[in-house]
Amino acid sequence: MRLCHIDQLPDGASRGFDPHQVGQDTVLVVRQGRRLFAYRDACPHHDTPMAWRKDAYLDGTGQHIVCAAHGAQFDIATGLCTLGPCLGESLTPVPLLIHNNGEVHLAPQHPLETPT
Ligand code: FES
Repeated sequence: MRLCHIDQLPDGASRGFDPHQVGQDTVLVVRQGRRLFAYRDACPHHDTPMAWRKDAYLDGTGQHIVCAAHGAQFDIATGLCTLGPCLGESLTPVPLLIHNNGEVHLAPQHPLETPT
């Protein structure tokens, strides 16, 4: 399932996606250069969406993913909570495929992926 082209992901920024059109973003992606990190948009604290506004998942420094609800901070590369009420818990990774032409897809067989 296609998410976007990598050029539509600003370097150093985050973006939310609603690949299954449930009416809210369920996947967040952070780009760092050619590397992409994707997680379920669900905080391990209360299993709630985390953006403080559309596509805004990072703190002011851009160095951490943050949850808008209670301020938990997560390591971008590992998804591990390093500060806040769910310290030591982790975001759920979402495997991506980045094709040679730059198209970014959810990896097949992922639980978020529905059979076609
Ligand atoms: S729901 Fe994310 S920190 Fe509480």
